Amino acid sequence: MKRPVRIAPSILSADFGRLAAEVQRAEAAGADWIHVDVMDGHFVPNITIGPAVTRAVREATQLPVDVHLMIQEPERYIGAFAQAGADWITVHQEVCPHLNRVLAGIREAGARPGVALNPSTSVETLREAVAWVDLVLIMTVNPGFGGQSFIPRSVDKLRRLQRLLAEEGRDGDVEVQVDGGIDAATAPAVVAAGANVLVAGSALFGAPDSLEDALARLRDATSAVGRIRA
Ligand code: DX5
Ligand code: ZN
Repeated sequence: MKRPVRIAPSILSADFGRLAAEVQRAEAAGADWIHVDVMDGHFVPNITIGPAVTRAVREATQLPVDVHLMIQEPERYIGAFAQAGADWITVHQEVCPHLNRVLAGIREAGARPGVALNPSTSVETLREAVAWVDLVLIMTVNPGFGGQSFIPRSVDKLRRLQRLLAEEGRDGDVEVQVDGGIDAATAPAVVAAGANVLVAGSALFGAPDSLEDALARLRDATSAVGRIRA
């Protein structure tokens, strides 16, 4: 099944002093979701934002709010992010020895659960968990900062994920997200390999011309791409 390509601007590269206006600008430009990067200074070296800013994003837009938790012990904060208005909550496989419990907790809190994999984590680590997820996030850079270069090996990894999802009967209904170094040059290959939710920070909010033009370029770059069948 072919899922529509969705573009999720990451506010990490937005002007935080004008955050509501930046979110509204992304929505007006045709964004599909708003991606919120939460970092704790432990799982990743950087520190960003928490539930209060997530709530401000929620109040600024009608779009789904997609929260990417790059934090240790994410189970401690799931309720707070769900209450702040997160539609999607994605946790990292690497910090969840009890992944089933964490994913169930996200659903009980009223959000849709996702699992993220770092570049060095194999898709096979998800085989026993794909029955419980609505989204898989393949990190295409090492998480922590915006503006890094796309890791080319991610394209093969997406194909392997597509096969695994097909084998487990989940290829039709799991969102496959990519995050890191996504722009009009890297997007066609990831979409062809099975990704359908494209997170982009610096390519959109840091575009040399405008967010509107950059979003249109990203959309154009992917609109004609055929998707692989597993
Ligand atoms: C990185 C974050 C990303 C980041 C992507 O750890 O998870 O969402 O904002 O930024 P770009 O698109 O600039 O690589
Ligand atoms: Zn992210």
